[in-house]
Amino acid sequence: MTREEAYKLLTGYITNKNLIKHSLAAEAAMKKIYKFIHKEDYSQKDEDIWGITGLLHDLDYEVSQKEDKLDKHGILLFEKDPNIIPEPMAHAIKSHNYKSTKVLPASKMDWAITCVDGLTGLIVSSALIHSDKKLGSIDINFVINRFNTPSFSRGVDREIIKLCEDKLSIDLREFISLTLSGMQEIASDLGL
Ligand SMILES: [Fe+2]
Repeated sequence: MTREEAYKLLTGYITNKNLIKHSLAAEAAMKKIYKFIHKEDYSQKDEDIWGITGLLHDLDYEVSQKEDKLDKHGILLFEKDPNIIPEPMAHAIKSHNYKSTKVLPASKMDWAITCVDGLTGLIVSSALIHSDKKLGSIDINFVINRFNTPSFSRGVDREIIKLCEDKLSIDLREFISLTLSGMQEIASDLGL
């Protein structure tokens, strides 16, 4: 699956502009995390696979909402068409919502999308409370501060994000910094 095919698939299923932006943010972050982990054994093909996983991880979200099956978020479209997205992206997408799907993350890519998903939302919310409302105006300390304020973006599960330390051997501060910089690079696409 090429990035172009993946984007076409995404826009075929997702109409909500914020969800498209969230998908783009996850793509950018996944590519950054891949490059950080695989400095010594980098492959363009694998970077693309990680990016597409980020781009498509919420592909079934609108269908799940419409059919009132959010408990199946992550696996719903695979139940309709097992080959809609090839491996290894498929496993990562099913497992990123493992608490509901019961498909457990195994590979580093699985854990990366699981850990980074909510973080992209916390970063968007952080930018929005800054007077400039720009990703370029916030830095790592600004986001860490928001992360450490439990009442801020209360719905974002900090514990899952923190698993980056155990599962990916990436320090939380580094993980947030990679995600922030990936998002900053596509700030105009994110409208921030
Ligand atoms: Fe997501």
